[in-house]
Amino acid sequence: MDSVLLLHGGAGSDSALSPILKKYADSAIRERDVLISVVKAVSLMEDDITFNAGTGSCQRLDGTIQMDASVMTAYGMGSVIAIENVKNPVKVALSVMKESPHLIMCGDGAVKFARIMGFPEFDPDTEKAKKQHDRIVHDIMNNNPGGDERIEQFLKIRELSRFLKYGEDTVGAVGRFNGEFAAAVSTGGAAPMLRGRVGDSPLPGCGIYVGKRGAVVATGIGEEIIKRMLCFSVYERIGKAPLHDILREEVENFGDYSVGIIAVDSKTEASYSNRNMATAVSKLPE
Ligand code: GLY
Repeated sequence: MDSVLLLHGGAGSDSALSPILKKYADSAIRERDVLISVVKAVSLMEDDITFNAGTGSCQRLDGTIQMDASVMTAYGMGSVIAIENVKNPVKVALSVMKESPHLIMCGDGAVKFARIMGFPEFDPDTEKAKKQHDRIVHDIMNNNPGGDERIEQFLKIRELSRFLKYGEDTVGAVGRFNGEFAAAVSTGGAAPMLRGRVGDSPLPGCGIYVGKRGAVVATGIGEEIIKRMLCFSVYERIGKAPLHDILREEVENFGDYSVGIIAVDSKTEASYSNRNMATAVSKLPE
């Protein structure tokens, strides 16, 4: 049987970045194990400051960086929520899956777990994140004249999507090797957001889902993806229509909210987004 690996650089990422993703996909597929391969693909994107994951993650409204990541196969999963000061959240998620009795770790407990597992302290902040944060705060203040308490002002904003226009989102990978499926995702979140906000990426069924019929990951506005349990909804439909049609229909349900999906089933792979989205596929024959 063949092996296929499909990567995305986030809803809103420049599709001109696809050749870079292709290099990452071609490197990661050589791991030969589907779970290790999707984790490697995502960790390469986490290490590339272009993408909003790992190094290059966007800041929260208070200027801190908290990251979410998860990994999943048909037999298990691991996830970290609001983890800080690690280089590769997706590798910590893999450790949660493989080395802990738990499925999901969050906050300072996730950081402590990472240290115990040997992940050193690392600051993922970048000039790119600082500039984006300054622009967001400037825009929010301009749209709320008279406001001098930025958190209070933000809490008054009911329509998050008014401000959700700041660029790329989650990175993700799905793979099928010899009939086995796996998926991995990682994100700095969807700015602007409060410290402590959790998106779809670390939540099974929402930003990631894998079963015996395929693997699915999502990118876009986490709040909307969670409401629709997007990845489980896609997974449930696998086999009932061509994969690309399923993805297109699910994305169309989002109206103007930014969203993208990549997926593999037993025979095909597909991606669909209502924004620009860098993607790449790598394949190995039987
Ligand atoms: N899709 C990433 C997030 O909403 O956090």
